[in-house]
Amino acid sequence: MTYYQGKKVWITGASSGIGKSLAIELSKMGAELILSSRKIDALEKVKALCLSAMSDANRTNKVHIVCLDLANHEELESIFKENESILSQTDILFNNGGISQRSFAENTSFDVYQKLIDINYLGTVKISLLLLPFFKKRNSGHFVVTSSSAGKFGVPVRTGYSASKFALHGFFEALRAELHKTKIYVTMLCPGYIKTDISLNALTGDGNAQGTMDQAQANGMPVEVMSQKVLRAVASKKAEFLVGGLKETHMAVWMSRIFPSLFRKIIAKSRVT
Ligand SMILES: NC(=O)c1ccc[n+]([C@@H]2O[C@H](COP(=O)([O-])OP(=O)(O)OC[C@H]3O[C@@H](n4cnc5c(N)ncnc54)[C@H](OP(=O)(O)O)[C@@H]3O)[C@@H](O)[C@H]2O)c1
Repeated sequence: MTYYQGKKVWITGASSGIGKSLAIELSKMGAELILSSRKIDALEKVKALCLSAMSDANRTNKVHIVCLDLANHEELESIFKENESILSQTDILFNNGGISQRSFAENTSFDVYQKLIDINYLGTVKISLLLLPFFKKRNSGHFVVTSSSAGKFGVPVRTGYSASKFALHGFFEALRAELHKTKIYVTMLCPGYIKTDISLNALTGDGNAQGTMDQAQANGMPVEVMSQKVLRAVASKKAEFLVGGLKETHMAVWMSRIFPSLFRKIIAKSRVT
């Protein structure tokens, strides 16, 4: 896909799952990459995979690592300043880093709600605001945001997760409207079930990771298939893209809009994992 040829692409959540797969696919398409997450060792491994997927003879300085914690908003600002010469050149930002939840509301500590908003929503907003002035100066750029089908309708045992993803839609849909006269684009990705470690890493009510793979996740769309579909959708500058997993998830998104009261009854009876 020529859209990515020579582009500088910054991916958060690049150490694992969807972000890792996007990074490898983009390496094959001639993009220069900036990989971010908390874990340097995992990012180094992804960098090595990306470099070996690249055909460019000068590939050694085409993959950069910038470690960051999306929950640490003050530090994000200083990290951006330290790496401004690289980060400010970003053409496409994949706001992908995030964490899920598996716990009923009554069993969930307030700290878990705080963490989900800090990582999934405020960390993403902070990074995007740091980059926005550079996009505006060049009148070009693309924000890609990994939301979720749980950002389109509330899902049981994910009250805080759904809320954080709904918040992303509010922010980025408003931002898209503000930018309508520019060449800066926003694409919201709404995955259903993709086979990654998301359920292993999901927070339970006390803030510990669930540590087990949900059945629906294990049966989800292979992440490599998902990332190819996503990259096609982003290249065609889709405003919103539903992808992956159970057919029912996509039907549910449409049903929640067309038959909202019927949908409320169905989702109330479901025990989604
Ligand atoms: N898999 C699905 O079915 C599915 C469905 C809908 C939406 N999504 C969304 O897709 C995105 C990627 O998830 P995934 O499925 O690829 O899961 P994953 O394999 O668990 O990857 C999550 C990524 O987010 C990073 N991350 C987590 N907390 C972070 C923090 N505090 N600061 C910086 N980075 C952080 C992790 O890196 P470190 O641990 O190295 O920091 C990792 O790279 C998430 O936003 C998730 O909500 C996934």
